[in-house]
Amino acid sequence: MARAALENNQASAVNRLVLTAKNYGDSVGDILGESGIDVMDKVIIITGGAGGIGSALCSALAADGLKVVVADYAKDAAEKTVAEICQAKGQGTAIQVDVGSQESVAQMMRRAIEKYGHVDVLFNGAGVMTRIPVVEMAEEEWDRILRINLKGTFLCSQAAARHMIARQQGRILSIASGRGVAGQARASHYAASKAGVIAFTKSLAAELAPYHITVNAVCPGATDTPMSRAGSTPEEFKKREAIPPLMDGLTEKDEIVGLVRYLLSDATRFVTGQTFFLRTPK
Ligand SMILES: NC(=O)c1ccc[n+]([C@@H]2O[C@H](COP(=O)([O-])OP(=O)(O)OC[C@H]3O[C@@H](n4cnc5c(N)ncnc54)[C@H](O)[C@@H]3O)[C@@H](O)[C@H]2O)c1
Repeated sequence: MARAALENNQASAVNRLVLTAKNYGDSVGDILGESGIDVMDKVIIITGGAGGIGSALCSALAADGLKVVVADYAKDAAEKTVAEICQAKGQGTAIQVDVGSQESVAQMMRRAIEKYGHVDVLFNGAGVMTRIPVVEMAEEEWDRILRINLKGTFLCSQAAARHMIARQQGRILSIASGRGVAGQARASHYAASKAGVIAFTKSLAAELAPYHITVNAVCPGATDTPMSRAGSTPEEFKKREAIPPLMDGLTEKDEIVGLVRYLLSDATRFVTGQTFFLRTPK
């Protein structure tokens, strides 16, 4: 019933369809009023879209009715995420990308535009982390983390901004981290890259404001994904899991989805240059 309403509205170029979903598990068609995301022909690229946080976002936003480009270096995992989206009657496509390569990013943008005609939102979610003390860190490892986390955010944002400026609209969101303000022993390269993402977000927001493009960053707390499990011993992770969320426990993926939905909604159309923390950085 709700799906039929969605399809009818999509057929009309005049009607704007505004959807929200009550929570992460909801599917396409929960038409709840004017407080949510305008999904009418909206296209989002999510880099790192096959990862722990990225795939949760891809599934949730596809369920809301957005067309989702699952952009990830891990090709098979990206295709699996798209298969799940299609299974749930959403729309998505997988594009392999190395966010640290300008050529690969240009190709990602080209293919996304070929497929869907335009891009409304870029979500910079691709990221990597390792745990190494500064005194033991190889120069190559420092460069690798900065290349993917920070240069990747720059390259994808630059490519998307050029397209969005021509359209005089768009939203860019990036995942930073509380580590970017609090620092992290044994992950200085990661912390520095995320501090860079926060400063880049503020700078780009100022540059793109004249073109009606917003740029913001979201900072989850520690979230149960392959990245965070790889960074702790099983015992450390178990201890972390036992802490209640309001006392600095793990961030649930639906909290991240909820914040991203808010930042894509009409309510935040004039919010730019901001960094949103889901846990107090310590
Ligand atoms: N998990 C956490 O606790 C946590 C907390 C704060 C911020 N973050 C950030 O959230 C983002 C997602 O993290 P996650 O925990 O889901 O990690 P994840 O390892 O599950 O996912 C990261 C994804 O990025 C992809 N990727 C890696 N290098 C790439 C490249 N060069 N080009 C394209 N894609 C590439 C990987 O294939 C993977 O699918 C990262 O930026 C991370 O720094 C995570």
